Parts: sequence; C-alpha cells; structure tokens
Amino acid sequence: MKTVFKAKRWLCILPLLLLLPACYEASEPQTTNQVESAQTNQVTLDVYKSPTCGCCEGWVDHLEEAGFATLLHHSADLGLIKEQQGIDANIQSCHTAVSNNGYVFEGHIPAAIMQRFLNDPPQDAMGLAVPGMPMGSPGMEMGDRYDDYAVLLIKKDGSTEVYQQVKGK
Ligand code: CU
Ligand code: CU
Repeated sequence: MKTVFKAKRWLCILPLLLLLPACYEASEPQTTNQVESAQTNQVTLDVYKSPTCGCCEGWVDHLEEAGFATLLHHSADLGLIKEQQGIDANIQSCHTAVSNNGYVFEGHIPAAIMQRFLNDPPQDAMGLAVPGMPMGSPGMEMGDRYDDYAVLLIKKDGSTEVYQQVKGK
C-alpha cells in the first residue's frame, strides 16, 4: 500500500520536472521587458538570432547600453530572414537586425557606427554589415585579441562598399 502511494507522488512530480526546461526556454520575453527601460533612442531593432548563440546577446547588450531598444526573435530559419532582407551569403553573420525605420544591420556592428548611419543614412542605403564574426567586435570580445574589420554599406541594388574601417589593437 505504501509503495503505491510513493509511486503516485512521483507521478505528480515527474510532469513538473519535465516542464522546467520548457519554462526556462520561455524566458525570452524578459528581454522584451528590458526594452521599456532602454528606450532612450527612438530606433527599435528587431533582432533575429539563434537561441543558442551567446555572442548575439553580447551584441544586444552593447546596443542597449548605447540606448537602442531591441526586440529579440529566436527564429527557426535565419537563412530565410537573411534572404528576405537581401543579405547575400558573402556578407552574412550570426544575427540580423531590422530597424523600425526600415534598415537592416547584419552582424557585430559597433553601436556608434550604427548611430552615425542612422543620423544620416546615405542615399540608396539598405543597411550595414560586418560579415563573419571578427574578434574584438561588440559581442565578440576575446581577451586582448582584436581583428581589423570593415563595416560595409549595403546598397539597395545589393552592392556593398566600405562604410567605416575599424582598426584592431
Ligand atoms: Cu556572433
Ligand atoms: Cu550574433
């Protein structure tokens, strides 16, 4: 009789244990709450990233510190989003952000350069990109390792040119 009772208790606890990981993953909307407190800038960015990518979150933190409001999206098909936004394979990085005023920002772009761009967007500009994941870029801090990298201007016709060169140390 006693063992039956015990087994029943376990049956109650088990579903709870199984639910825990699901709840943990559902903590994503918290990031949405942070948005309200960081709304010092009128520009809101929808950031599309993989749920397992940590460097993306480092970049998002960097943006929020600079006053951008961000909304995180854990997309199942990042490739599709990049395609829809016109990000060619040769300039892709781990995350794609779209501003509420219609520009796209691919990869680990420094916030100050995004602000310069948004203050005075060049004609025919579609957005900016830092292809790959250069070491030392925001969210890609790796001790004292810094790559030189270029922030590219993406034009509406799909072509790119260097918008700003960033010097490593
Ligand atoms: Cu990354
Ligand atoms: Cu990323």
